[in-house]
Amino acid sequence: MRVIAIDGPAGAGKSTIARALATRLGLEYLDTGAMYRAVTFAAMRRGLDLEDREAVAELAGEVDLEVDEHGVRVDGVEATAAIRTPEVTAAVSIVAANSGVRAEMRARQQAWAMIRGGGVIEGRDIGSVVFPDAELKLYLTASPRTRAERRVAEAGGDVDEIEQAIAARDHYDSNRADSPLTDTHGPVLVDTTGMGVDEVLDHILQLLEQV
Ligand code: DC
Repeated sequence: MRVIAIDGPAGAGKSTIARALATRLGLEYLDTGAMYRAVTFAAMRRGLDLEDREAVAELAGEVDLEVDEHGVRVDGVEATAAIRTPEVTAAVSIVAANSGVRAEMRARQQAWAMIRGGGVIEGRDIGSVVFPDAELKLYLTASPRTRAERRVAEAGGDVDEIEQAIAARDHYDSNRADSPLTDTHGPVLVDTTGMGVDEVLDHILQLLEQV
């Protein structure tokens, strides 16, 4: 199984790089953040209290999630844009800190890769917990300002406000008890501040030649 694990904070360029890398390597790409967002969206749509850990974990076990290059469907309903609203973004960290949800998503991610013989998989705990034996583990980062500017370029908004919101989410994601965002599992650190997509991609392809 050939897994390339890409972790890092919000706005570091993980999705863009992971998608491009998957195309170059002829592998499929999985956005695991979209899975946590989709569970959050499903829970909000059903009117669940997101703090009700058991109810949200139960939902994570039964919800039908399709996350692929065409977008995201939740219980058969198109949700590609709906999982990226500010409301879902503000709530997703609570759901992602739920151990029952994480166990379920981890199992689905591992099954996804098994069926395909691997893939380029991006998230927060992919190299540290979900695929500790990945062929290459990357930790992509960039300065907080750069990350906020990238998000604003994609989706609009005020750069100061977005920078603050990103910092708050990263703090929460890095300090939760279950599989927090970390760079202590030996990934190759790639600081993408001031780097273009092609430059980052070339650097990663060089790293792959060395493993
Ligand atoms: O990459 P993103 O911003 O779409 O991720 C949404 C949230 O999901 C993020 O705040 C942290 C969480 N997440 C996680 O806990 N583990 C992953 N493997 C991927 C995302």
